[in-house]
Amino acid sequence: MSGGGTVDRPHPTDEQLASMSDEELVTLGLELDDVELAYRRERWPVKGTKAEKRAERSVAAWFVLAGIASLAFVGIYLFWPWEYEPWGSDRNMLYTLYTPLLGLTMGLGILGLGVGVIAYSKKFVPDETAVQQRHTGGSSEVDKKTTVALLGDSMESIGIGRRSLIKRSLGFGAGALGIMAIMPLGGLVKNPWKGGADAALWTSGWTPRNNETIYLRRSTGRSHDVELIRPGDLDAGAMETVFPFRESERGNDEALSSALRESDNPVMLIRLRPADGNRVVKRAGQEDFNYGDYYAYSKICTHAGCPTSLYEQQSNRILCPCHQSQFDVLTYAKPIFGPAARALPQLPITVNDEGYLVAKGNFIESIGPAFWERKS
Ligand code: FES
Repeated sequence: MSGGGTVDRPHPTDEQLASMSDEELVTLGLELDDVELAYRRERWPVKGTKAEKRAERSVAAWFVLAGIASLAFVGIYLFWPWEYEPWGSDRNMLYTLYTPLLGLTMGLGILGLGVGVIAYSKKFVPDETAVQQRHTGGSSEVDKKTTVALLGDSMESIGIGRRSLIKRSLGFGAGALGIMAIMPLGGLVKNPWKGGADAALWTSGWTPRNNETIYLRRSTGRSHDVELIRPGDLDAGAMETVFPFRESERGNDEALSSALRESDNPVMLIRLRPADGNRVVKRAGQEDFNYGDYYAYSKICTHAGCPTSLYEQQSNRILCPCHQSQFDVLTYAKPIFGPAARALPQLPITVNDEGYLVAKGNFIESIGPAFWERKS
């Protein structure tokens, strides 16, 4: 737009401006902006032909598709059975389809609106080429007035105002897409303290309940398998990821698979080599958390919560692949490199009368990244 660079021609007075039609203001604006219209072709020089109506319906069809797909997304998001169903259950297929259906309907919604807008501009917006010289500086009053007229003229040229079918279908498609976009935010509104001391924020699968023994269980890849661990199952210098198991969960597929899936449950069970066992520095208050050469640490990185799945036997370090934090197993898994600032919480373990490794109690500090109510 012009300003300091407005072309050198007399500006109309306020009275003249007030009496000018929109068309005259558009012509004036083009002149003042030093814009030269090199080429212009109306898409539909004869209004209301069958071909124009057909084009209108084809554009509207895309907007309607966007609207229907977006509403389908909202319906699936609200009513589809989304809760985990174990493999083999009748409803497992429905659960499995939940995420793909959300992706499909969201994709169709965005695609419909995008293709509709492109089709509209190709079929209805006049084809024109304009050249404008570059100007600098702020806009004068005349420029502002003529700009408003130009924008109005653009709306008139693209004809959206008089195409009620397209206006309605666009409103439907864009409105439904807008609802679809904000729906998932509802899932983020949760109360992490719900349940008091039993809230998910404070507990994990290792939190004792009903005086039940919590065994260390290995994952076999099948959620219903229960394989417990005895000392001697691990070679010296080995590491295995273990999960909590209670006898009351035996035969309960949902509880067994949930114990494997819950994000704060994985624990690294490490058996040190005998020579390394003699070099261990224990943390005050955790002197009896190990069982011989067996040490159990939460697998959830205290930096940002990634699984710290790499155990380097030679250096006795646990490595987090996300941002390369390293934890020293011989010094209560305290961080010695990278952004993590807190040791990995240690799970107290022992061996019960049956000879299985079991938890001797709960973690005494919070698992994973620090949060604002952490006590340690
Ligand atoms: S999450 Fe482990 S280092 Fe960042």
